[in-house]
Amino acid sequence: MRTELSSRMGIEHALFGFTPFPAVAAAISRAGGFGVLGAVRYRAPGDLARDLDWMEEHTDGRPYGLDVVMPARRAEGVTEADVEAMIPPGHRRFVQETLARYGVPALAEGDPSGWRITGWMEEVARTQLDVAFDYPVKLLANALGPPPADVVDRAHRHGALVAALAGSARHAARHADAGVDIVVAQGYEAGGHTGEIATMVLTPEVVRAVDPLPVLAAGGIGSGEQIAAGLALGAQGVWLGSLWLTTEEAALPSRALTAKLLAAGSGDTVRSRALTGKPARQLRTAWTDAWDDPAGPGPLPMPLQGLLVAEALTRIQKYEALPLLGTPVGQIVGAMDSVRSVQAVVDDLTRGFERAVERLRAVVPPSGGTSRRQPGEGGHDATHRAAPCDAPQEDTTP
Ligand SMILES: Cc1cc2nc3c(=O)[nH]c(=O)nc-3n(C[C@H](O)[C@H](O)[C@H](O)COP(=O)(O)O)c2cc1C
Repeated sequence: MRTELSSRMGIEHALFGFTPFPAVAAAISRAGGFGVLGAVRYRAPGDLARDLDWMEEHTDGRPYGLDVVMPARRAEGVTEADVEAMIPPGHRRFVQETLARYGVPALAEGDPSGWRITGWMEEVARTQLDVAFDYPVKLLANALGPPPADVVDRAHRHGALVAALAGSARHAARHADAGVDIVVAQGYEAGGHTGEIATMVLTPEVVRAVDPLPVLAAGGIGSGEQIAAGLALGAQGVWLGSLWLTTEEAALPSRALTAKLLAAGSGDTVRSRALTGKPARQLRTAWTDAWDDPAGPGPLPMPLQGLLVAEALTRIQKYEALPLLGTPVGQIVGAMDSVRSVQAVVDDLTRGFERAVERLRAVVPPSGGTSRRQPGEGGHDATHRAAPCDAPQEDTTP
């Protein structure tokens, strides 16, 4: 699975993996892909430095990247306490009532109230960058809009490429104007924050909008056949997030959550504002149902919702309140039905990719697709026109 971009990045497969877990990111890089560690959940700079030290020791010198969530617009001087003060008391009551309905105990005295998604705050994201630039990160990805110009410059001076996620061709064009090197076209099927356009439609739109910048297809990719589809749509690689959640290296908070993911079908996710205030695809649970219920108060906008529900999510995870227990995950969860090592997943992806390429070779003759149907032969013209094998073979061969 080699493309111009994978050669430029010095990786074997044009396979980029987003994950919040250092052990998964390192294993993706070791397996010949490009592991990208999500930084949004790190609060203390020391914790991020500790995990980047660990990555350095466990990536065998292979390249890896970091994903931050940095808003393009600055909320000057706004602190976490200011944001907390904006949360209406009725919403706080709703959280407590919902937890009480499912018998979720309170945290014990001194328990960390933990899992606050504060990495979206610019001050936190910038602290993370200060740490990251002490390490040889080769890619800096940004989730919320184009990264600020000074961050792009700093990354380039550091020798890192900059990527940004886009849910529409318009977003992608803005990223290109901001000087990013790679655009991740992330479709509606994806886990986490998503737009409303499916990967199949979005990828070629983004490829056209940012040409000649390389594009990674993301959202709903969990097999080598789907990787081949992404490359056929013009992407120079793929970016996967959900699939790694059920790998042996993933450190999910509980076995119960892994079991829920393994049991879930592709229709068991929902795009809901329950987690952060912006639409994010996640497992559908009693928690998302409560927030999406028109009879309830409804989610607050980002960043208020994330702060409002932080302690509740910690309690739900700690006490394994099954009906409420969830995680961001995409529709590909329906294909995640066993726990395997990252290496086994990558092997499976490369085998599936080979199968897909073989299948396409069988529909298009190696001469370049000039076969003419005789009158009366079956088949559609579209099959003959869709000729990804016209592309140079060295670009698509694993
Ligand atoms: C558990 C989880 C957390 C995510 N968190 C982030 C994040 O912090 N930053 C980000 O850029 N993308 C995040 N994403 C989105 C991924 O980067 C990726 O675009 C997406 O997972 C691709 O679609 P897929 O889930 O169908 O593979 C997250 C995805 C998942 C599943």
